[in-house]
Amino acid sequence: MKIARATPPSAGQPSDMVLDEAALKAASTNLDDGPVTPSYGPHREAIIKLLNDALATELVCVLRYKRHHFTADGLASPAIAKEFLVHANEEAAHADLLAERIVQLGGDPDFSPSTLTSRSHADYDESKDLKAMLRANLVAERVAVESYRQMIHLLADKDPTTRRMLEGILAQEEEHADELKDWLHR
Ligand SMILES: [Fe+2]
Repeated sequence: MKIARATPPSAGQPSDMVLDEAALKAASTNLDDGPVTPSYGPHREAIIKLLNDALATELVCVLRYKRHHFTADGLASPAIAKEFLVHANEEAAHADLLAERIVQLGGDPDFSPSTLTSRSHADYDESKDLKAMLRANLVAERVAVESYRQMIHLLADKDPTTRRMLEGILAQEEEHADELKDWLHR
């Protein structure tokens, strides 16, 4: 089989390593869109929807961890109850990042409590037993990890800022899952 060999670009050939001048010009219009320039692409609404579903997921996670923090208090392991609160606060910080980015992209962050659980990827949980709480949280974290990984894949190079933010959140969700797995096996 013959292997086609790429021809190296010669000095006279135009390179594709140049900026899109028309897009630069267009960036000075539509000022109300803030950081979203006309070349942002056709996926803005879809990206905002992904972020809003992630926001709902984080808010449900805050509620679940808070519930577990207060109801696990007084049980055998106050250290775990304390850990639930740390997680709740970190999920709340993720929710803030997501809401802020949604607004930057010109969207409306959806905090509506009536649709939270139906939009969230992860479940709320009212387990009373400490082991069942740990298990429910581990399941939720793994679902969150999977959803962020998929989102990052979908975003690819469509929005590097949003992708980087999601990568940071993903790393923390992976830490949460790792900690819960350790607690569960103690
Ligand atoms: Fe988490």
